[in-house]
Amino acid sequence: MSDEILVGALRLQSEVCREFGSPFNGAMLAHMAADLEAGGPVGELLTPWKGASRRKVFDEAAPIRLVNAFTHLAAGDEVPELSRAYPRDGRPGDPDAAWTVGRALIASQHGRLTAFMGHEPQTNEVRRSGVLLGGFLRVAAETGLPLRCFELGASAGLNMLWDRFHYRLSQDDGGDAEWGDPAATVRVPIDWSGPAPPVDAKPQVVERAACDRRPTDLTDAAQRQRLLACIWPDQFDRLERSRAAIALVAELGLRVEAADALDWVRARVQPQSGAATVLYHSIFWQYLPAETREGLTAAIAEIGAQATEAAPFAWLRMEPSPENLAVVELRLTCWPGGEDRLLAVVHPHGAWVRAS
Ligand SMILES: C[S@@+](CC[C@H](N)C(=O)[O-])C[C@H]1O[C@@H](n2cnc3c(N)ncnc32)[C@H](O)[C@@H]1O
Repeated sequence: MSDEILVGALRLQSEVCREFGSPFNGAMLAHMAADLEAGGPVGELLTPWKGASRRKVFDEAAPIRLVNAFTHLAAGDEVPELSRAYPRDGRPGDPDAAWTVGRALIASQHGRLTAFMGHEPQTNEVRRSGVLLGGFLRVAAETGLPLRCFELGASAGLNMLWDRFHYRLSQDDGGDAEWGDPAATVRVPIDWSGPAPPVDAKPQVVERAACDRRPTDLTDAAQRQRLLACIWPDQFDRLERSRAAIALVAELGLRVEAADALDWVRARVQPQSGAATVLYHSIFWQYLPAETREGLTAAIAEIGAQATEAAPFAWLRMEPSPENLAVVELRLTCWPGGEDRLLAVVHPHGAWVRAS
């Protein structure tokens, strides 16, 4: 099977991985693209996207599913020759060796690889909290109220605890801003250019809840392993932050509710007097079918219409721009009034923020 759209998507993702600091996955995806183009066995794994539109391949994150499936296989003990070629404990790994071994395993490991690829990436990226922080602090500073936080598509719920992390915002003028408990176990460094968020705001989170269509249960070792396989394997700082956040979520016994986002919003979210209600999500919208997107947009507008000065409502989201899917934006819409603001253009994993 050779499919120009898929080959192009694998090459593009390869470049994105290199650009965003994962040379290992960049090289793996380049090998995969070449293999697909030559009619090699990787095509078997991509059957669900054969002939699919560019949009579908992007929205369903097919290249990421593929490369993560090999990371997942390498993380177990079953194929030590693959594990040895993967990055580990600060070693960069050998993607050429990993691909030679990985390619040869496709037939025997087909079931495991395709099972992993059967669901969209469950990546739960802690550094996205550093991006969302800009919106939470803005709502807190503008309303002067405590926050009620409701997250959609929360995966394992690591970003439910955004207010328990410590953030260091390195600014382009050389100054650093900080927010959060200096003793926090989860440390989030972020390059921040443009106006800093109002770090003097110290909102209290008086309620927090989250849903996911298929939450990651952190008490289950297999699900934890699956979650960590979504992190690019040579990005050791991301792995370390995730492990720290996993430990915190487990310690506090936080649970993400299993529900479709639209049903959950209708059932759970309404403004409440004395607090600002914030509905938020990150890298989630693209996975929704059109009717769910439309339903959610309408439900959010209805909630907004109920908001008052005493019971404000905010919709905060970090998502690819509908006009240019390669650009990820942080947007905030606040009610009463419904004013929509572009707060920043951001790195997809939250490494940097260019605030407007
Ligand atoms: C790429 S992950 C992002 C996780 C998290 N928001 C983050 O930024 O780290 C997308 C999540 O959206 C969830 N999802 C997709 N469709 C959904 C729906 N209709 N309702 C609830 N969750 C959904 C997936 O299960 C997945 O966990």
